[in-house]
Amino acid sequence: MTAEYKVHGDVAVITMMNPPVNGLGLSTRMGITSGLDQADRDASVKAIVITGAGKAFSGGADIKEFGSPKALQEPNLLSVILACENSRKPVVAAIHSVAMGGGLELALGCHYRIAAPGANIALPEVKLGLIPGAGGTQRLPRVIGVEAATNMIVSGEAIKSEMLAMLPGQKLWDAMASSAEALMDEALALARKVAGAHADGSPLPLVRNLPCKHPQGAAYFQFARNMVKATAKNLPAPVKCVDAVEAATTKRFDEGMRFERDIFINLMWTPESRALRHIFMADRAAAKIPDVPEDTPKRDIRSVAVIGAGTMGGGISMNFLNAGIPVVMLEMKQEALDRGVATIRKNYEAQVKKGKLKTDKYEQRMALLSTTLSYDDIAQADLVIEAVFEDMGVKETVFKQLDKTMKAGAILASNTSTLDVNKIASFTARPQDVVGMHFFSPANVMKLLEVVRGEKTGKDVLATVMAIGKKIKKTAVVSGVCDGFIGNRMIEQYSRQAGFLIEEGCTPAQVDKAVEKFGFAMGPFRMGDLAGNDIGWAIRKRRYQEKPDMKYSKTADLLCEMGRYGQKTSAGWYDYQEGKRDAIPSKLVEDMIAKHRQDLGITPRKIADEEIVQRLVYSLVNEACHILEEGIASRASDIDMVYITGYGFPFWRGGPMLYADTVGLFNVLETMKRFAVNPHDDATFWQPAPLLQRLVAEGKTFN
Ligand code: NAI
Repeated sequence: MTAEYKVHGDVAVITMMNPPVNGLGLSTRMGITSGLDQADRDASVKAIVITGAGKAFSGGADIKEFGSPKALQEPNLLSVILACENSRKPVVAAIHSVAMGGGLELALGCHYRIAAPGANIALPEVKLGLIPGAGGTQRLPRVIGVEAATNMIVSGEAIKSEMLAMLPGQKLWDAMASSAEALMDEALALARKVAGAHADGSPLPLVRNLPCKHPQGAAYFQFARNMVKATAKNLPAPVKCVDAVEAATTKRFDEGMRFERDIFINLMWTPESRALRHIFMADRAAAKIPDVPEDTPKRDIRSVAVIGAGTMGGGISMNFLNAGIPVVMLEMKQEALDRGVATIRKNYEAQVKKGKLKTDKYEQRMALLSTTLSYDDIAQADLVIEAVFEDMGVKETVFKQLDKTMKAGAILASNTSTLDVNKIASFTARPQDVVGMHFFSPANVMKLLEVVRGEKTGKDVLATVMAIGKKIKKTAVVSGVCDGFIGNRMIEQYSRQAGFLIEEGCTPAQVDKAVEKFGFAMGPFRMGDLAGNDIGWAIRKRRYQEKPDMKYSKTADLLCEMGRYGQKTSAGWYDYQEGKRDAIPSKLVEDMIAKHRQDLGITPRKIADEEIVQRLVYSLVNEACHILEEGIASRASDIDMVYITGYGFPFWRGGPMLYADTVGLFNVLETMKRFAVNPHDDATFWQPAPLLQRLVAEGKTFN
């Protein structure tokens, strides 16, 4: 059992011991109830203190148990809380560091609570698409008031214990400890005091017996629901949080508990909660590389050099400046450096103006930035990231130079989005130190970092780059070397399919709207206009050479031939008004598409939004299967993280792979077979990947 029982004079102390955060898994729950039993039987014990060892009181439910029968196995959390309430001897919760979710609910079932200052207190279940399921929605409003509790439960955000202590009339804390160190002594003293006060057998206080009212209940809850609905569009849980707190004010406690439980169980089965729990786990999983043990030694990264101060170089630099790591930017010409620095300044100044960055922080960050035209000045950097033109010849010059000048042990990274990282590594005599760090534009904003593992990349280099990714607050996902890596390789198939949809009868706006309704941040054509259609054009021209059999719609090329590169030329798939980003459907483009259809002899047909979404999303899924089979990605959930953090895939659907699992892989495969009959489409496009066929045959899923 992962809880310890010890008697200190006349007080029993039950200490949860389930690192890292004393999650309330079965064995911890058993430890608590057995401790309560033991204390009950021991006549010398007058009171009980429950606390947590190490870094937390308790972080709440053990997420590993989610959805497994273990979570419900007795004593489940509700029973543990009931055992605290029913204890004949006063139970005091001694809270420090973290009391979240089930941890806080447990404390609310104790008769008394003492908290150390600085503890993070939260009911974060909403972040996993749930509501608190062990009385949190019924008990918290009784101790901190209805509005404060609603805010905490709907947002899931943590509040410091001392802030909660300041709420007028709060009954959450019976005492604040003078410090974290003094917590246990003061908790023992409180336990003895309350034991004395109840020695006469007077009933122990229970949160459930406190009143719960709001003076303008109906109006307040209507207002809260409207607010929450407006911000949580696609997520059912936040509104349910409001419903549950309202129930605390209108129902008897036991009825409120049943109401909460019903909502909790229903939400557990929603695809949204499944998606959010999946992302929670996927995010942690992405950091683990199957053949790189967690204790792999890492290199020290105290300084960074960035080669190229263009669009990407500037954004990349900002990440490190934000993390307090000094950066030197290197360019060939002073003007380029000046431009790069000016852009960084402009970005920071915009943040200062919006009140998102304090002036002194801005100055601290700029002070960490320096520039140079000479490789000698960057020789001592621990990590150098190359972000020069996307041209193998230029990369060759740069990496040969880096190999000559950089100190031994420096990591040499390339931000290339399409070039072969193995080839780049071969320009040096130290391929083990070379790795891809593929940032996404704007690099200071986008969360995704594809870490491209070359054939010879050292394990310590990978481990270091993954750790530095975390330090600069990116979601780092490892990709093997292939054209486009994980994300862009998949998006190419999606873009091809978008082109076919247009040839068959869709307008760009119809495709974009369908995909945006599905939840993508932006449809493929608005995205093309934003990124610049000329970029895809250049890639296709290369493809026409490399893969002459691969079929593409020519519409995108015709568009570029018209000079319509997108927002930067005020014309792309859409028209744009000077200085504005609103996409206005273009008559010229519609005519171009209509003429192209005529040339191909295609009679346009009406295509339903459902088909649009299926064709685009399943083209991602099928390519992802190849990526998994080739070992380019280690797990399906990594691909989901790439798409959620880098490509605007709706997070509440959990990424393309979880989405396919939710639809059912059998259904995905059947639908793909139907698309394959399409007379216009590329004959091989819908050839299902062997992995997909195998999973369907074996009745398995990606996750
Ligand atoms: P950019 O054209 O904005 O910037 C490139 C910079 O490199 C220019 O300032 C240029 O003066 C400098 N440069 C060129 N040759 C150099 C050399 N030999 N030594 C030092 N500096 C040199 O290009 P951008 O968009 O920043 O792209 C850079 C790299 O990042 C490319 O490999 C690109 O594929 C990759 N990338 C670009 C993304 C994007 O959305 N723009 C996204 C992800 C990766």
